[in-house]
Amino acid sequence: MNQLKNDRYLRALQCLPVDYTPVWMMRQAGRYLPEYRQLRSKAGNFMTMCQTPELACEVTLQPLNRFELDAAIIFSDILTIPDAMGLGLHFETGEGPKFTKPIVCLDDIKQLPLLDPEQSLKYVMDAIRLTKKELKGKVPLIGFSGSPWTLATYMIEGGSSKTFTKIKKMMYSDPTSLHLLLEKLANNVALYLNAQIKAGAQSIMIFDTWGGALSHHCYQEFSLYYMQMILSQLTRGVKSQDVMSYIPVTLFTKGGGLWLDRIMQTGCDAIGVDWTVDLSHINNKGQVAVQGNLDPSVLYADKLTIESNVEAVLSEFGSHNGHIFNLGHGIHQDIPIEHVQHFIHAVHHQSKRFHYD
Ligand code: CP3
Repeated sequence: MNQLKNDRYLRALQCLPVDYTPVWMMRQAGRYLPEYRQLRSKAGNFMTMCQTPELACEVTLQPLNRFELDAAIIFSDILTIPDAMGLGLHFETGEGPKFTKPIVCLDDIKQLPLLDPEQSLKYVMDAIRLTKKELKGKVPLIGFSGSPWTLATYMIEGGSSKTFTKIKKMMYSDPTSLHLLLEKLANNVALYLNAQIKAGAQSIMIFDTWGGALSHHCYQEFSLYYMQMILSQLTRGVKSQDVMSYIPVTLFTKGGGLWLDRIMQTGCDAIGVDWTVDLSHINNKGQVAVQGNLDPSVLYADKLTIESNVEAVLSEFGSHNGHIFNLGHGIHQDIPIEHVQHFIHAVHHQSKRFHYD
């Protein structure tokens, strides 16, 4: 039947007791793994891996075959949505993502379609269905999307950006157009995430990677507002004795440490936090779970340094329910595998004394 062998991640998301702190890593499937690099060169490019359910499934499972992770995250990318909306995504070696048809004017925004994810993003749903089957209930499967604001930065800048010149120019000189784009994105993201839930995703994470580039006023108006709009449209089920009857949602704004109170008020189940935040300062009242927040660069260091930094994060959170251990952002591609192994073991081993029966 539909049983989970390890439900610690889902329990922690619902602030229920666990015997040790569950852990997974953002970007846990990726270039630091030799088996990933091998499959990627065989596939030819990154998008082929995302669009071939068998490959996406295999890559999702790669880190789980090596490490005692407490969750799997479906292998895909946040930029699949703008691609399905017609912008033409491609990855240029060493340069990151690029769009053939970036958003330039209001007319471009007006023409963007409302998506039918089971059509244009069927490959993601197929990957989820297949991965769920192959996981055989080992750990829960996380589905995800980018936040409207973060997606819009790529769509307007045409790729990655450090300064966000074009989108900020639109934000301050033509906010109505930007709001229209963000609303269209929020509706598409909600459809996309509901399709992922229907296909078998057991929790959802929204990556707001660039929300931290905004002023506090603009964050509320251009990022958080639209994440809340998505939350209000998601079919999350109902909480019951069975942890699997409910789909918890995690909101992660990188650089959002000063706004955690407002993020928690959206009705999300968990907040993701980067390494700039002291977990003991979060006033989550045992209602909202916290995911984070080791600096990914700690994993370059020796075993003792990894252990002491893991200990610091665990102690800051303390002995209550609702902590999911993670890095404060994605794992770097040149981290030695033995260090990852040691990190995961350290979290499990050292966290036991923070949990009581
Ligand atoms: O976490 C996981 O293991 C799931 C897979 C995942 C990827 N991208 C795979 C990927 C997830 C959750 C993402 C999300 C994503 N993609 C985000 C938000 C999370 C974050 O890191 O803040 C963003 C901003 C993107 C956009 C994106 N995709 C960029 C900027 C790049 C290029 C990065 C680079 O260093 O070249 C990608 C490509 C990408 N997505 C890779 C992977 C493993 C590398 C592709 C490769 O093999 O070359």
